[in-house]
Amino acid sequence: MNTSNKTGVGAAIDRVEGHLKVTGKATYASEFPIENKVYAQGINSTIAKGTIVSIDTTEAENAAGVLAVITHKNAEKLNDFKKDRYQIATDTIAPVLQSNKVHYYGEYVGVVVAETFEQAQYAARLVKFEYSKASDPAIHFDKQRDNAFFPGEDSDYSRGDMEKGLAEADEVIEQTYITPIEHHHPMELHAVIAEWNNGKVTAYASQQMIEDATIAISDTFQIPQKDVRVIAAYVGGGFGSKLNVERHVTLAVMAAKMVGRPVQVTVTRTQMFTNTGLRQKNEQTMKIGAKKDGTMTALSHDTLSHTSPNLVYQEPCGMVSKMLYNSPNAKVTERLMPMNLQTPFAMRAPGEATGSFALESAMDEMAWKLKMDPLEFRIKNDTQTDLHKNQPFSSRLLVECLRIGAEKFGWKNRKDQPRTNVKGNWLVGYGVSAASRNSPYRKTHAKVLLELVEEKVEATIQMDATDIGTGTYTIVAQTAAEYLGIPVEQVKVELGDSNFPVTPGSGGSWGAASYCNGARAACENAVMKLKDNRSIPKDQKVALTELLKQNQITKFEMTGMAEPSTEFEKHSVFSFGANFAEVWVDKDTGMWRIERMVNVGAAGKILNPKTAYGQIIGGLTMGAGMAIAEKTDVEPNFGNFITRSFADYHVPVNLDMANIDVIFLPEEDKIANKMGIKGIGELGITSVAASLANAIFNATGKRMRDLPITPEKLI
Ligand code: MOS
Repeated sequence: MNTSNKTGVGAAIDRVEGHLKVTGKATYASEFPIENKVYAQGINSTIAKGTIVSIDTTEAENAAGVLAVITHKNAEKLNDFKKDRYQIATDTIAPVLQSNKVHYYGEYVGVVVAETFEQAQYAARLVKFEYSKASDPAIHFDKQRDNAFFPGEDSDYSRGDMEKGLAEADEVIEQTYITPIEHHHPMELHAVIAEWNNGKVTAYASQQMIEDATIAISDTFQIPQKDVRVIAAYVGGGFGSKLNVERHVTLAVMAAKMVGRPVQVTVTRTQMFTNTGLRQKNEQTMKIGAKKDGTMTALSHDTLSHTSPNLVYQEPCGMVSKMLYNSPNAKVTERLMPMNLQTPFAMRAPGEATGSFALESAMDEMAWKLKMDPLEFRIKNDTQTDLHKNQPFSSRLLVECLRIGAEKFGWKNRKDQPRTNVKGNWLVGYGVSAASRNSPYRKTHAKVLLELVEEKVEATIQMDATDIGTGTYTIVAQTAAEYLGIPVEQVKVELGDSNFPVTPGSGGSWGAASYCNGARAACENAVMKLKDNRSIPKDQKVALTELLKQNQITKFEMTGMAEPSTEFEKHSVFSFGANFAEVWVDKDTGMWRIERMVNVGAAGKILNPKTAYGQIIGGLTMGAGMAIAEKTDVEPNFGNFITRSFADYHVPVNLDMANIDVIFLPEEDKIANKMGIKGIGELGITSVAASLANAIFNATGKRMRDLPITPEKLI
């Protein structure tokens, strides 16, 4: 690596696309200036379970500007979920309006297409549905327990002998932790413009994974994948809700075919509660056994969650308990109950975000029982072997994160006893938690185009990667600058188009490592080929301008591919972190606030400290949201969500997050991949809620096992 490159890998440069974004010139899905486009508005069911018995579309069809009203009666027949693809069906096929059955409140039962957005919205209200309502919708979590089922192979895990481990323990704790339904709510609404041309579809869609989106459209409509083009040049956040093609994309593609014009669907903020995925409610029961000296002897983690009646999604809450600590005896189970609510789906750090709340709260409870410093209890049970996979970690600096964080935070000033650190009317508390997140790495292709323009090489990188607000444009440009030996200003990055080389898309914290190594491979191949052509030794330094000149060409293009090595497969590759929090709780009102947070992360090579910092504070804010306010309530009679807008779904604001310190430990994990990168997109949210709940216990002596921690729970 040419570390002298001031705009290359590791440099804290501004976002290369930042100016386009703040001046409104970055084109998001619904902003593509497609001529002749019309608007479609989905209609949502008003029952949780039952059958549509009649539909009257007359009034809507006669309303101004209306081009079509589509319901299950006149919808195109689409490919249905396949049994043999059950677990992945939600990823690859998205049928809608295929029957008269209603599975949850808010399910799409129709769509109106009109000349303007307003006309479509108005006419959507004129379609009259009559339902035969089932008397027993499953809308109460607590009443569904008897219907819990075992969702599949990965749902039961054990090692050693749990009973033996508990028998060996001096102390045992057993507690249940609740996390409520949450919603992703990226700033940019889900949106799509779909257009048909000679049997081919183009979809401008706010999606995280381009290739998967093309597959979904091609599978659903049963057309060849090559006839589908998906474009997502800019994506205003996703948090997992845009991993899949959701039903509005299918509605737009179907409607565009029917009316013979491009159709735009912009999902409303209220529809974002019912039609674009959610994080389900989880009830997690933890049991920990430990000896007096803090040695963990047993750890179990049992989760009960819900899924929809027709599809399975299971958040792997217990995953973190399988690998984080050195317990020889462990058991993890997951059970699901069908409920008449939309199918849950991956939300930022699915598994870890919620699972670490249970695990890291339980760790704190055990440390308290042992009269041990909760920081030391965690360090005592560190392991350098992943006992779940029975293989080493590629690198694991968890203890370093905890120690360095403790130092920066001033952990030594913590008072052991609750209600002893008092500032006027405030009870002050300190909390800690450990964080870990799987850091995957997936096969990625990239193309580099070089052009000699007035003595300078201009490079363009193309890949179907997406920038979901994370900084992909910037870190890919820096990677190209690094490996081509040119300043970042001479690099242009083009993303988010299925015509470009295939990448895994953005999700699961694999984006940065995969994309950058793909871009690296293309640039390295280009330089190598240009040298080979002239028999220049590999390690001889030659400026790129000179290389093109020696080859007597002004244009050159090359592709590259990166994928996990066998060493990668033989190791457990995780990012690690530690969260420290100080909270102040008002003695009388229970109002509490975050005074400060310190986060330390060990996540491989940091490509750009500025964008990485943005990722972590975003994660911390979302983690704090879990603790402070985020919750979607189900209305108990009809099964709709009571929470239907930002007026009632509360997220933290700047004032809640005033004082945050983020530290990255220097690390380059060469087992993870050639550039030493690990993921950070999901690390930041992990275990934040536990650090806050633990701090609240330290302040007040009250254990908060049911999120969010609203003030009335503290008085
Ligand atoms: Mo993430 S929940 O894989 O976008």
